[in-house]
Amino acid sequence: MIRKPIVAANWKMYKTPQESIHFISELNNLLLDKEKPSIIFCPPFTSLFHMNEMISDLDISLGAQNVYFENEGAFTGEISINMLKSCGVQYIIIGHSERRHIFNESNKDTNKKIHTVLENEIIPILCIGEKLEDRESNNTRAVLMEQLKDGLAGINKGMMDRIIIAYEPVWAIGTGVNALPDQVKESHAMIRKILLELYDNNLKNNIPILYGGSVKPDNSEELINTKGVDGFLIGGASLNLEMFSKIIEIVHNKFMR
Ligand code: PGA
Repeated sequence: MIRKPIVAANWKMYKTPQESIHFISELNNLLLDKEKPSIIFCPPFTSLFHMNEMISDLDISLGAQNVYFENEGAFTGEISINMLKSCGVQYIIIGHSERRHIFNESNKDTNKKIHTVLENEIIPILCIGEKLEDRESNNTRAVLMEQLKDGLAGINKGMMDRIIIAYEPVWAIGTGVNALPDQVKESHAMIRKILLELYDNNLKNNIPILYGGSVKPDNSEELINTKGVDGFLIGGASLNLEMFSKIIEIVHNKFMR
């Protein structure tokens, strides 16, 4: 059986609750009764509660963009996994490049969060990717290895059945310059190999690997047709109804052929 591809929207710090709800109802009108890939929306925290009330009849899942690893306590400004679960969250983006590079999240922080997420039976979308300088100095593999090894420390192979990886080269995020299909193919293969290495060849070969970084309607066809790509994590283009629904259609068509 072919696994359904995944199209995840990372809305970052965009859209009020009202705008979020409006977007979903418009998208639903466009996609009504159509078969679709698995669609995951990761809006700002403030939109989750209302979106959850809305999507119960729709074929859409909710994700969060971050979580704190402690269950509760005096952690001003943070959000707990139970708070997110009570808003219907089923997925959480962990280690996004903006968390790593603007908010100085380390692989160790990422690892604590991955543990919290998996222990609570939520699916983490672990983001990894190299900076331009890493690529230019041939360090892509070393960076991906470090992010996977340290990020997944202590995660046993049984838990690896419930994880999604997003390969997002930092230089492609929000720049309008996507990674070329050959680069994506090579990195996704590298990631699969590293995972097998870390788990002594003992993993079922079915961990979905998404590509993210300037995915747009006009590059999504060749990217989704690239070997090893199981879907997308989309920032900018997911904020625009027309662009996002077009990408959904392109991804769906590929897997229906
Ligand atoms: P982008 O963002 O599609 O705007 O490049 C991707 C992401 O940050 O997940």
